[in-house]
Amino acid sequence: MFRDRLTDAATAVQAQFDNVLGALDPLPVVHAMAHATNGGKRLRGFMVMESARLHGIGSTQSIWPATAIEALHAYSLVHDDLPCMDDDDLRRGEPTVHVKWDEATAVLAGDALQTLAFELVSHPETGNAEVRADLALSLARASGAQGMVLGQALDIAAETADAPLTLNEITALQRGKTGALIEWSATAGARIAQADITPLQTYARALGLAFQIADDILDVTSDAETMGKATGKDDAAGKATFVSLLGLDEAKRRADHLVTEACDALHVYQADADVLRDAARFVVSRKS
Ligand code: IPE
Ligand code: IPE
Ligand code: MG
Ligand code: MG
Ligand code: MG
Repeated sequence: MFRDRLTDAATAVQAQFDNVLGALDPLPVVHAMAHATNGGKRLRGFMVMESARLHGIGSTQSIWPATAIEALHAYSLVHDDLPCMDDDDLRRGEPTVHVKWDEATAVLAGDALQTLAFELVSHPETGNAEVRADLALSLARASGAQGMVLGQALDIAAETADAPLTLNEITALQRGKTGALIEWSATAGARIAQADITPLQTYARALGLAFQIADDILDVTSDAETMGKATGKDDAAGKATFVSLLGLDEAKRRADHLVTEACDALHVYQADADVLRDAARFVVSRKS
């Protein structure tokens, strides 16, 4: 069930990108945006659509915020891969945007994907004016200097810090870097329905942390062929990660514990949330 829903969300998001980007002038920056939004697990888009479904909201509405968060996530990856950030050549099994085009195109494609996200989330089909304003405001907060950008800034600063980060510091870093966008994704459905976001927020906070622990584990245990991106990068950059601080076994144990915590947070939804519970299990068992 979870696999089918993830595939359905991925297909719907891709079709939406094809439509939206296909309507723009075929400039290099637009081709770069299409390249950057192609592929990926679409976990964030899926979470938007699944949390919406949980509140009786169909895909005609939820596809807009689902595509929006995938555009914002793609922007964060394009910039994360730049030479001045992580300097990566490979993303989703393809050359990164600055390698395939150039750095200026990568900066601009990232910029345009970020603004596209706000355009999509504001689409009239998403919901009434109050819902759209709430989605845009919360997306701005999740993305910027108190969310994803904060996490990225802490991550870059840690590379040149005198002492390795502590577990508390790395947890705070993660809350921004990975957690904020995942939290937005999982709560979006409740926002569209104007329902209480608290259970999904608790779910997403545990899940986001588990997600980053899994990313750190895969950086050590997997390979570029399987991941579609370079591995062994964190250690090479001298980064403190959950794995370097806790060791592999304890990192895995924590991730599993967080999954249980995430699943339990959805008790009010009873069996209706089983697909989201499976998504939490997938996050720590995934191979890429
Ligand atoms: C990778 O995210 C970047 C992190 C936040 C750790 P994903 O693993 O969700 O990447 P895609 O979208 O599937 O490529
Ligand atoms: C990237 O984190 C997070 C964002 C882009 C916000 P990482 O640098 O760990 O992601 P990967 O490992 O390159 O996908
Ligand atoms: Mg990075
Ligand atoms: Mg990176
Ligand atoms: Mg990583």
